[in-house]
Amino acid sequence: MPLALGRLPLPWKPEPVAIAPGPTPRPGLLDIAPYVGGEAKIVGVERPIRLASNESALGPSAKAVAAYRALAGEIHRYPDGSAEELRTVLAQRHGLDPARIVCGAGSDELITLLLRSYAGPGDEVLYSRHGFLMYSIGTQTVGATPVAAPERELTTDVDALLERVTHRTRLVFIANPNNPTGTYLSAAEMARLHAGLPPSVVLAIDAAYAEFVNRNDYEPGVALVDRADNVVMLRTFSKIYALAGLRLGWAYCPPAVADVLNRLRGPFNVSAPALAAGLAALADVEHTRAARESNDRWLPWFRDQASALGLTAYPSAGNFVLLGFPGDPAHGADAACRFLNDRGIIPRRMASYGLPDCLRITIGREAEMRSVIDALAAFVAG
Ligand SMILES: Cc1ncc(COP(=O)(O)O)c(C=O)c1O
Repeated sequence: MPLALGRLPLPWKPEPVAIAPGPTPRPGLLDIAPYVGGEAKIVGVERPIRLASNESALGPSAKAVAAYRALAGEIHRYPDGSAEELRTVLAQRHGLDPARIVCGAGSDELITLLLRSYAGPGDEVLYSRHGFLMYSIGTQTVGATPVAAPERELTTDVDALLERVTHRTRLVFIANPNNPTGTYLSAAEMARLHAGLPPSVVLAIDAAYAEFVNRNDYEPGVALVDRADNVVMLRTFSKIYALAGLRLGWAYCPPAVADVLNRLRGPFNVSAPALAAGLAALADVEHTRAARESNDRWLPWFRDQASALGLTAYPSAGNFVLLGFPGDPAHGADAACRFLNDRGIIPRRMASYGLPDCLRITIGREAEMRSVIDALAAFVAG
């Protein structure tokens, strides 16, 4: 019979034991406000209209879905850790050197890898005031200091950025076009920013929405990467290629930067289904064209309609529109968000981006955009 030791009176008086402290995270980590993605559910609504995460209006290519499914019986195999085939096809498509491409589990992973590679405690990482949230969050995870430069009319301000470069600056992140504002820097402005940076500072051009841009003075970053040793371009399969759930992105880098990222990344950081679906999505040029055309049609339509309702619909080069709700809080962005939610529509709140008077609306399909405009019209009228 087992002894019930716990119940026996102890023959000695135990020494008071100092309670061992739990594991202590590195300084600063508990100061990080975790990234909160766009909402995806409304209680009681089976199929809400989800316009909070800049996902593709048309969804993935049927060929990408088939390639993904075809791998189901092979998931006991490790993926190709060098992503060779995908890098080769990307290089052919964009006219690049495949050895300078590094793939990641979404561009989020590549942002983190760049930060882990080049910044640490005591260093500064520069970005634009309303730049993509992961720049400041990722900077804090490596113990470096995020520095936000003010914008001009919600647009990245090259002079304000250059004024904030110090001997501690290690990286500058620019989303081009920027999420959530939708504004972009011309190729000439980006080149001016690069020209003002010391060669030791990495300029990371995050071109997540490049495929949607239809402006003559835009360039996603390839030209600068090709002629400089300190510029990296980031791209993703989460937006026009509609593979956000699979997590696939890539970086085009100077050789020395690619070498560092390859040392740091996990050996199998991109899954086999993601690689296969990515290849199929790239091959389905017809589907990509349809996605671009849909955006070209419904983005301007949505902006016009929202402006006609008296809302501030900021210009956007991406697949989303930032909407400003000027005036009294009863008719502000929060009230509008609740109103839309009640009608089964999920926009993105913008308070975490320092834009509490705004909502961001992803451009969806025609019927979805018409529903949003109808709901906004009712909101404004009420
Ligand atoms: C500017 C920008 N960069 C990067 C990302 C992250 O993309 P991924 O899904 O490839 O991690 C997003 C996602 O919304 C984005 O807007």
